[in-house]
Amino acid sequence: MKVAIIGQGYVGLTISAFAAQYFDVVGFDSNQKIVDQLNSGVSHIEGVESSTIKKWIKDSRYKATSQGIDIRDCEIVVIAVPTPLTTDRKPDLGYIEAACKTVGQNISKPGLVINESTSFPGTLRGFIKPTIEKYSPKVIEHLYAISPERVDPGRGDFNQKNTPRLYAGLTQEASDKTREFYSKFCDVLVEVSSPEVAEAAKLFENTFRQVNIALVNEFAQIAHSLGISVYETLDAANTKPYGFMKFSPSAGVGGHCIPVDPTYLAEVAEEHGAPATFIRRANDVNLEMSEYVVRRVAEDNGGDLQGKSVLVVGVAYKPNVADVRETSAELVIQHLRSRGAVVSWHDDIVGEWKGEKSAPLVGADITVVVIMHDSVDEKNILASAPYVFDTTGKVKGAKGL
Ligand SMILES: NC(=O)c1ccc[n+]([C@@H]2O[C@H](COP(=O)([O-])OP(=O)(O)OC[C@H]3O[C@@H](n4cnc5c(N)ncnc54)[C@H](O)[C@@H]3O)[C@@H](O)[C@H]2O)c1
Repeated sequence: MKVAIIGQGYVGLTISAFAAQYFDVVGFDSNQKIVDQLNSGVSHIEGVESSTIKKWIKDSRYKATSQGIDIRDCEIVVIAVPTPLTTDRKPDLGYIEAACKTVGQNISKPGLVINESTSFPGTLRGFIKPTIEKYSPKVIEHLYAISPERVDPGRGDFNQKNTPRLYAGLTQEASDKTREFYSKFCDVLVEVSSPEVAEAAKLFENTFRQVNIALVNEFAQIAHSLGISVYETLDAANTKPYGFMKFSPSAGVGGHCIPVDPTYLAEVAEEHGAPATFIRRANDVNLEMSEYVVRRVAEDNGGDLQGKSVLVVGVAYKPNVADVRETSAELVIQHLRSRGAVVSWHDDIVGEWKGEKSAPLVGADITVVVIMHDSVDEKNILASAPYVFDTTGKVKGAKGL
């Protein structure tokens, strides 16, 4: 069985590496640089080892391509392309449309099309199917299904195999074939009654996290104003064995999921006349955290950051990855610079970002820790500046939330 995976990023390459154990995989990506790198056996994604890619290439189980024609005889197509927001923060289905065009123009026999990209309920039925049909030169009766991806890149304990996978087809046959496909490399499969339920469940999972992160971020501000430790208070609440789940405060939320997916849900809710009050407010609270952090730093430093050298530690969106999408460090840096601070950043995993390079962890007036990778030494952070503000709760002896 030949499988095409459209998009060879975090989701697509991870799924390719698992699927290649059982199928011949064609990894289609529109970025030629990524394709060339993958075909030379080099992985660009944490959690997918280059040695694994090399092995699948050697065994003729995997090939990357940017040529649509190479997917023409695939029987299963998995779509795993970005679903970001437009500049006015609306769902951007442009990448999905381009992926559908590739599928429509190249797959000539009926097959199974599975979407793993995150999007609002109705995307499979109302957008993907008609878009593929629009670009197909002839009428082809494909089967369509959704199986939203839940992978957490860089995580060791949960992966494609042991994370339960939701799925639903537009028809029962599509559901059954989807189950057959994933059951080869996933232990627990959960069928739901419609693609819309699966699409909504994925959005709600991330909305749950977004709202709870916003709540704890707001609580961090309340705790500070009351003169109590937010961390001690959360640990105390967390001793309750039921009805409480601990979330930690931060300088905001980053990544392509939590700051983005809830907006997909809010947009579709409001289109249907339903309120999305919590989602909208949570997004604002999380975005405002960067300004709050910088205000606290300024207050502790005589109210003025003009000309001060500030080192921001950690510009990835979360620990131990190089991914900088929607990173809260960007807003922190913007607010610091708008107050006249001379800002550099240290992040050896990211290395280079926005035309700037990671600076050494020494010699600043002020250090602000946004993300702490395991490779960064707490002692070096404390030695890097006379004043250290830590938003992670990990640097003992620093000022913090
Ligand atoms: N990364 C995660 O942790 C994660 C987890 C769950 C769900 N998701 C969702 O999965 C989807 C993919 O996310 P990702 O993190 O893998 O993105 P990514 O940016 O890491 O990878 C996407 C890849 O798709 C390629 N691409 C873009 N347009 C294309 C096209 N028309 N044809 C072929 N390739 C194309 C890009 O070059 C890139 O390599 C998104 O909807 C995302 O929200 C991601």
